Amino acid sequence: MSASFTKSTARNIFYGGSVFFFLIFLGLTVDTTLAVPSHNAKAQLTDAAVRGKKIWETRNCAGCHTLLGEGAFFAPELGNVYVRRGPEFIKGWMKAMPTNVPGRRQMPQFNLNDAQLDDLVAFLKYSSQINTNNWPPNIEG
Ligand code: HEC
Repeated sequence: MSASFTKSTARNIFYGGSVFFFLIFLGLTVDTTLAVPSHNAKAQLTDAAVRGKKIWETRNCAGCHTLLGEGAFFAPELGNVYVRRGPEFIKGWMKAMPTNVPGRRQMPQFNLNDAQLDDLVAFLKYSSQINTNNWPPNIEG
């Protein structure tokens, strides 16, 4: 090692490097915080959607379904089900379960009332509007 690389040079590199990367870290954090709201500007988390999310969680829909890829793979992905099926189909579907069609996978009856079904639909509408960079690539995804 050359004699010009002294202890204080090493210290300066250490402190200089730490400050430099801490500033980059701060800058990226601010950038993310500013970018996230505009990224999801279309998706409005209304009170109804929040209540619907609670239904989604307490009834463990993700125990069978995925939502934007998160969850289990027993039943269809529901991130875009609002676009694919629309609100009336979803409500009718929830009321019609189980189908009892032999050989078809079954979904339980959750006995949700009309207000709860509206909240659930509001949550699925919210989910369908989250910016996913156009994932899934096709409507049945
Ligand atoms: C025990 C597993 C199970 C649970 C829990 C479950 N589902 Fe399902 N769900 C299914 C299955 C299986 C299907 C597909 C049935 C078929 O195609 O006949 C389905 C289909 C659906 C569909 C229609 C999807 C489409 O593409 O047409 C909707 C909407 C739905 N579920 C919503 C929900 C919601 C909301 C919850 C929670 C309240 C929930 N599911 C909980 C098993 C489940």
